[in-house]
Amino acid sequence: MNALEVSDIGRVFPVRGGLFARPKLLRAVEDASFALPRGGTFGLVGESGSGKSTLAKIILGADEPTRGDVRFGERVFGKQSRDADRRWRQRAVQAVLQDPFGSLDPQMNIGDIVLEPLRIQKSGFAREAFQKRLDELLAQVGLPAEFKRRRPGELSGGQRQRVAIARALVLEPEILVLDEPVSALDVSIQAQVLNLLKDLQDALGLSYLLISHDLAVIAFMSSHIGVLYLGRFMEQGTREDIVERAAHPYTHALIAASEPDAPDVRTIGGEIPSPLAPPAGCVFHARCPAARDICKSVAPPMQRLTATHRVTCHFPLTSKA
Ligand SMILES: Nc1ncnc2c1ncn2[C@@H]1O[C@H](COP(=O)(O)OP(=O)(O)O)[C@@H](O)[C@H]1O
Ligand code: SF4
Ligand SMILES: [Mg+2]
Repeated sequence: MNALEVSDIGRVFPVRGGLFARPKLLRAVEDASFALPRGGTFGLVGESGSGKSTLAKIILGADEPTRGDVRFGERVFGKQSRDADRRWRQRAVQAVLQDPFGSLDPQMNIGDIVLEPLRIQKSGFAREAFQKRLDELLAQVGLPAEFKRRRPGELSGGQRQRVAIARALVLEPEILVLDEPVSALDVSIQAQVLNLLKDLQDALGLSYLLISHDLAVIAFMSSHIGVLYLGRFMEQGTREDIVERAAHPYTHALIAASEPDAPDVRTIGGEIPSPLAPPAGCVFHARCPAARDICKSVAPPMQRLTATHRVTCHFPLTSKA
């Protein structure tokens, strides 16, 4: 059973070139489809600008797709959606972002920050019930109870991210969308926060959509992985399909780039093309060491290598299997 299914999502942004120029179309996400199994973690990995946050916003309901639909079990969000489903999503799908405190009132204390979503939904709750829930949440995320009287500015980055997780959990969600949740933290703190997320997932039966530009983070956490490049899925599969049997040249380049100690470090050469003028053929061809002539003119179709493993490439590398 899937917690989330995304089908053929496209998101096009009209972008103004200049005062008299016609708006151009920026295809931030094209034909994106994937499934997040209940209780699992789908890891979305890709360089900056590959469309990860755009997909996250669409799944959270903070943005609308140009086409395609998002479904959570029986609940479908496409061209139209039901009010009751939208209310369900506001509670059941919550987000943890890279820097949730950037825009928050530094005068609010941690207790009020964590409880705010619950106060909006259940204004009739008794004061004691709110305090009980707050203490329970702070314990769950590993923060001392007295932190509820502190302000965001008094906390470290890792502690602030624990507060953000507690706030995301206050309405008892089913799915968390984690968009670069540890990217702003020191590496040693990253592991602590990722381990906390794993423990919470087991204890609460949560499903995660995890977004990161760092394949090491994605590989550590995910049951399933999708590799995005210029808004398109290059490859998708189980963790093992991607980490042990990578078939797409871009995935190989990401793996090489995430292994700083490897003797044969190949960083990905070249720049990411502008999404306003994506290359013809395969969008990765200018940077691909395996590119041949056909790649410059013909976009590769998505191929199924196995029941779980899909790749979008004319010449997938399957020799490592
Ligand atoms: N509201 C918007 N208007 C125009 N372009 C946007 C908007 N949001 C995102 N984009 C563009 O869409 C592409 C994907 O962005 P984003 O989803 O933020 O990527 P990522 O999270 O992978 O870094 C980028 O080229 C970005 O500039
Ligand atoms: S289709 Fe061609 S250019 Fe694109 S990833 Fe495959 S081999 Fe490289
Ligand atoms: Mg982003």
